[in-house]
Amino acid sequence: MKEGPYNIKQGEKLGRGMDKEVYIDPENLERVFKFFTNEPAKEKFRSHVKARFYFHKILHLIFPKMVPDIYFSSSEPNMLKMQRINLDERHVAIQRASEYYFNNQKPPEDVVAKEKRASRDIITDPGWKDFRDAMEALDIESDLNAINFSSDEQGNLVYLDDFDPWIISEYGDHIENSFNMDKLKAKIETLDREKRENASSFLYRLEELRKEANDEFKHGEVK
Ligand SMILES: Nc1ncnc2c1ncn2[C@@H]1O[C@H](COP(=O)(O)OP(=O)(O)O)[C@@H](O)[C@H]1O
Ligand SMILES: [Mg+2]
Repeated sequence: MKEGPYNIKQGEKLGRGMDKEVYIDPENLERVFKFFTNEPAKEKFRSHVKARFYFHKILHLIFPKMVPDIYFSSSEPNMLKMQRINLDERHVAIQRASEYYFNNQKPPEDVVAKEKRASRDIITDPGWKDFRDAMEALDIESDLNAINFSSDEQGNLVYLDDFDPWIISEYGDHIENSFNMDKLKAKIETLDREKRENASSFLYRLEELRKEANDEFKHGEVK
């Protein structure tokens, strides 16, 4: 079996994008490892690695059908462990064309035709609009490209890419939330008790991490 960074055993490769490569977890076929292939500066902060985990957990609690569950986030290697989502025919058609683009090749016409049909089909899927509206309502940035979606076995359109809770200020001296805190809090209040309590405690930890990271900035500990 192939071993990835830090001797992590990798199963079959499921996909890749500009930032990540995604493999089946051979020890649990319902899960995937997502390795970041180029490391943006933010990923260097241990607090950011935790923050992205809590933010994703909150969004999964709020939108369990649109956002896969997340189990783990680490900095070395820089990766996430997430719920594996079925890659549907449309997704596979788009992937096939993108492999050519990745390799700076021109895909054959039939591959392009299938990719176009699949992309159109995804962005006219009611689930795509639901996801876009849900994110807009909380001022959350997402990558709405068709390649970031696939339908699961129950027919729900699922978002496959990730979320970043933080924006580093222009001068690199403090961190702001990338989402609207008041709107997110209000949304959490609408959840059933157990989910509400979990999401609130994740949000609390997310806020603590941001404060800690900003303190580190102030004391010059983050470069
Ligand atoms: N949870 C998942 N289950 C199955 N395949 C996935 C999952 N997440 C991502 N993939 C596959 O890996 C590709 C790249 O993942 P993504 O998170 O979108 O990376 P990038 O940030 O590089 O775009 C996706 O387009 C999809 O093909
Ligand atoms: Mg992507």
